[in-house]
Amino acid sequence: MKLKIAVLEGDGIGPEIMKQGVAVMDAIAAKFGHEFEYTPAICGAHAIEEVGDPYPDSTHEVCMQADAVLFAAVGSLKFDNDPTAKIRPETGLLAMRKKLGLFANVRPVATFDCLLHKSPLKEELLKGADFVVIRELTGGMYFGAKYQDNDQAYDTNIYTRPEVERILKVGFEMAMTRKKHLTVVDKANVLASSRLWRQIAKEMESQYPEVTTDYMFIDNASMRVLTEPRYFDVIVTENTFGDILTDETSCITGSMGLQPSSSLGEHTPLFEPVHGSWPQAAGQNLANPIAQILSAAMLLEHFGLNEEGALIRKAVTASLDANVRTPEIQVEGGEKYGTTEVGEWIVNYIKNA
Ligand code: IPM
Ligand code: MN
Repeated sequence: MKLKIAVLEGDGIGPEIMKQGVAVMDAIAAKFGHEFEYTPAICGAHAIEEVGDPYPDSTHEVCMQADAVLFAAVGSLKFDNDPTAKIRPETGLLAMRKKLGLFANVRPVATFDCLLHKSPLKEELLKGADFVVIRELTGGMYFGAKYQDNDQAYDTNIYTRPEVERILKVGFEMAMTRKKHLTVVDKANVLASSRLWRQIAKEMESQYPEVTTDYMFIDNASMRVLTEPRYFDVIVTENTFGDILTDETSCITGSMGLQPSSSLGEHTPLFEPVHGSWPQAAGQNLANPIAQILSAAMLLEHFGLNEEGALIRKAVTASLDANVRTPEIQVEGGEKYGTTEVGEWIVNYIKNA
């Protein structure tokens, strides 16, 4: 298969983890006879420095021309220390999501047996937990009308029927490919926008008779993902709730450095780690490349390259089992492996498979 891939490495640890993500894609291309053509493009803090825009038109053009975007992370200390700056790396990320129409953010939560003890949660609760959070990504408070003066400020949590229908459809269809259990997470006891979500979900239930659909308030769901993670199969929720919930669920695996995601919608699909740019660690060969590498696996699987995705997943699990791990999940007193060493180990595993 031939694929044109836009490569947006962004800021902080982005370039280091992206290098490993691309190396893994290359190893897969060589092994399976695919042709992946990469086009790099700037985004985030360094794009602000270079051209004054965190998601310049030139980058959007590259993304639109590509079959898929492989994205790392954006953000820098300069902007973290000045949360009021108007032009920010995050605004680029939001513009990118909006312009590419990426309304469905898919964030899988799976555990690795050898890392269960690294999670702050009890091992016996976690073993076998495997669910997907689908977060609406281009609506709600993030994009609704905003206002701020000295005495008053608001953000409007607006959702329209077509926006809700299309994201719920992603949820129902994802449930059909899995254990057929969909949990709609909302705050319908308080919010009108949530009541609309719930009404539309109830209307759609009859189109998916095989799916068991249930409804949970976000406050309750925030507790249940930690106390009963195995209860869940597919969660679908609005932008803001999904943002908060997926930081929470990222601790289930034991490290944020392990969580990939995909963002799907109208134009080019995008694949990126759930974690951020960790500017404090930039250039130090400390960051875990696995979230980026698993994002590459999700990219391949999106195009039906399931055997290729499975081999990447097998290589990742083998690296963890072999204790070839970055510092945040290293066994006590174990040998030290950096971003590069973990990536190279995984590449070699694929080559020799
Ligand atoms: C995420 C991030 C972004 C979000 C920020 C960086 C704007 O937290 O992708 O989860 O809130 O969506
Ligand atoms: Mn977030």
